[in-house]
Amino acid sequence: MQTSDLHGKVAVITGASSGIGRAVAQALHGLGMRLVLNARRPALLEELGRELQAAVVPGDVTDPAIPGRLLDTALQSFGRCDVVLNNAGVITSGTVEDIDIEAVCAMVRVNVEATFRVAYTFVRHFQSQGRGHLVNTSSVLGTKVRPFAGAYCGTKSAIEALSEALRLELAGTAVAVTCVEPGLALTDLHRDLPEHPAKGMGINHPLRPEDVARCVVFALTQPEHVRIPRIMVLPGEHQI
Ligand SMILES: NC(=O)c1ccc[n+]([C@@H]2O[C@H](COP(=O)([O-])OP(=O)(O)OC[C@H]3O[C@@H](n4cnc5c(N)ncnc54)[C@H](OP(=O)(O)O)[C@@H]3O)[C@@H](O)[C@H]2O)c1
Repeated sequence: MQTSDLHGKVAVITGASSGIGRAVAQALHGLGMRLVLNARRPALLEELGRELQAAVVPGDVTDPAIPGRLLDTALQSFGRCDVVLNNAGVITSGTVEDIDIEAVCAMVRVNVEATFRVAYTFVRHFQSQGRGHLVNTSSVLGTKVRPFAGAYCGTKSAIEALSEALRLELAGTAVAVTCVEPGLALTDLHRDLPEHPAKGMGINHPLRPEDVARCVVFALTQPEHVRIPRIMVLPGEHQI
């Protein structure tokens, strides 16, 4: 498949209001895809929707109605659904003494529960139509752990496990599964911290959201017999 083959196809993106989701939306729009976008911040989402002539479904992705609503919107607005970028995510980290356990559980609901709901909802649809591509945003921390971030790493490991099992289940069909594993990126993810963690890690040039978007486009534009199960992308200075 070439980038021109994406023209006219339809992608649903969760976590589209900023960062990686927003950059992927812009990249796929540039390749002629029609988009359905979800996130909670309505002003950001609606502005992007206007810019990209996309359908928007504002709302909390942990609402069990949202995955079905996203799929229905794609089918009603554009008549088809080919790709889902299952990307909405949050991070909570901290020491044993200081970590906010309720925030950890809220993170599990977004990063695991909602991600799994979206994955199964769309894979069922892809199976029934005989084709489609599920792209899950994991993290380099889905494959490695660091102190203070164990719970976040656990949520991303869960995404890795589901992705790999789905890939095995769907082998031999035209439904593809890819896990994208970014290292530290400059997005809104760490907006609640006093400073971006790149500083403490000596990373002067974190990934830009567009760097991750290029990886997603790469995974989506492979020949039909090729699968990209995992794609890790790191800043060159990232010692992990
Ligand atoms: N930045 C990094 O260093 C990094 C590295 C590896 C992996 N990742 C992963 O990349 C993904 C995207 O994050 P990002 O770095 O691009 O950060 P970001 O700019 O904060 O984007 C996160 C997106 O998820 C949305 N979101 C969060 N909670 C939501 C909820 N409950 N319901 C609906 N939407 C929700 C946010 O929108 P609203 O706030 O408007 O809802 C936003 O659009 C996440 O899964 C993250 O774990 C990031």
